[in-house]
Amino acid sequence: MPGFEFFGDEERKEVNDVLETGILMRYGFDGPRKGIWKAKELEEAICNRFGTKHAMLVSSGTAALTAAMSALGIGYGDEVILPSFTFVASFEAVLSVGAVPVLVDIDDTMTLDPAAVRKAITSKTKCIMPVHMCGSMADLEALQAICKEHKLILLEDACQSIGGTYKGKQLGTIGDAGTFSFDFVKTITCAEAGVVMTNREDIYIAADGYSDHGHDHKGADRGADLHPFIGYNFRISELHAAVGLAQIKKLDTFLAIQKKNHSALKNILSQVPEISFRRIPDETGDSCTFLSWFLPTEEATKAVVADLKAKGILAGNFYWFDNNWHYIRKWDHLKNSVTLNGLHPDLKEAVMHHATKDFAASDAIMSRCVSTAIGLLWTPEQIQTKGEQMVQVIKQVLAEQVEKV
Ligand SMILES: Cc1ncc(COP(=O)(O)O)c(C=O)c1O
Repeated sequence: MPGFEFFGDEERKEVNDVLETGILMRYGFDGPRKGIWKAKELEEAICNRFGTKHAMLVSSGTAALTAAMSALGIGYGDEVILPSFTFVASFEAVLSVGAVPVLVDIDDTMTLDPAAVRKAITSKTKCIMPVHMCGSMADLEALQAICKEHKLILLEDACQSIGGTYKGKQLGTIGDAGTFSFDFVKTITCAEAGVVMTNREDIYIAADGYSDHGHDHKGADRGADLHPFIGYNFRISELHAAVGLAQIKKLDTFLAIQKKNHSALKNILSQVPEISFRRIPDETGDSCTFLSWFLPTEEATKAVVADLKAKGILAGNFYWFDNNWHYIRKWDHLKNSVTLNGLHPDLKEAVMHHATKDFAASDAIMSRCVSTAIGLLWTPEQIQTKGEQMVQVIKQVLAEQVEKV
């Protein structure tokens, strides 16, 4: 996830435009800002690049999910179905609007298993939230069909898949709403920021007000704005938007390099017949931020990860099964519903239900999966060396496993 790998003069120039006016806020100060509106400009660039009618920038991807859910009317009494493999922010956002996160199994796409989604639907289900993890997509056709059949909202958490597509459409623009994160480790970065994208004007207007204390933003005088509903402050600053403006111009270059490096590494790993790769519902739409691969057993995968670590070549290879941020197995704070403030007892009980829920199908996938982050600055020689080192470790571990049997 490489935005920061190419930080340079372009970002500095955009930030300096803002520093020269001294107007760091996205709203108001029309005279002193001398025509510099970086957040507005970035929203326009997002609409053009991703083909969405509306884009509402906010302070983070987490804020974008929260604002989107509020704008979609998701709240107390509603259930949101999301995958067991995601980032903690996805369920945090559901909880922050007072709704119940219902985590369900993934399949070999490493995203929502449509069959598990169907099984989890109740009379309280309001929204399905696929998370397009590690640069690639969920089976959106199947999920769209379920949403249509049950009249549910589709909210795409596309925070990790900027520039990925599904059947020609940009991830994040296919559901009722979608979000990107522009935090420091995403495909393009603002340092910290996120965006809500939607083709529905009502959702855009609601997200716009919600992320700025409920302001209606109707007049030129901010002090005279009305507040049709209660909102919060999830505003992006002009400095962050300025960085994003430089980065979005580089996105296609990033994606092209990512795809080239991904394909080179995949070719090398493909030499090992025991390695299989993540199923991608639309292979051409993979943004290629990661190459995710599987070994036949959990034991072999753990041994490979341990050996990569011992040889000092684990960096950039993620074994999510043991990771504290991304997989349900390690989320004791969720399973025990540990919050700083009181939760409604119904919500608390629903959250704690995850402690006893069976995620064997997800475990069977995640325990055998390693995701290799694709670097933009890799030279062809570095890719060859990295790939060969990995192949050597994998072959050796697999041979030892055969000997043991
Ligand atoms: C899948 C997913 N959703 C949401 C987020 C939250 O984004 P942010 O860090 O900008 O709040 C992230 C960040 O890593 C993410 O990976």
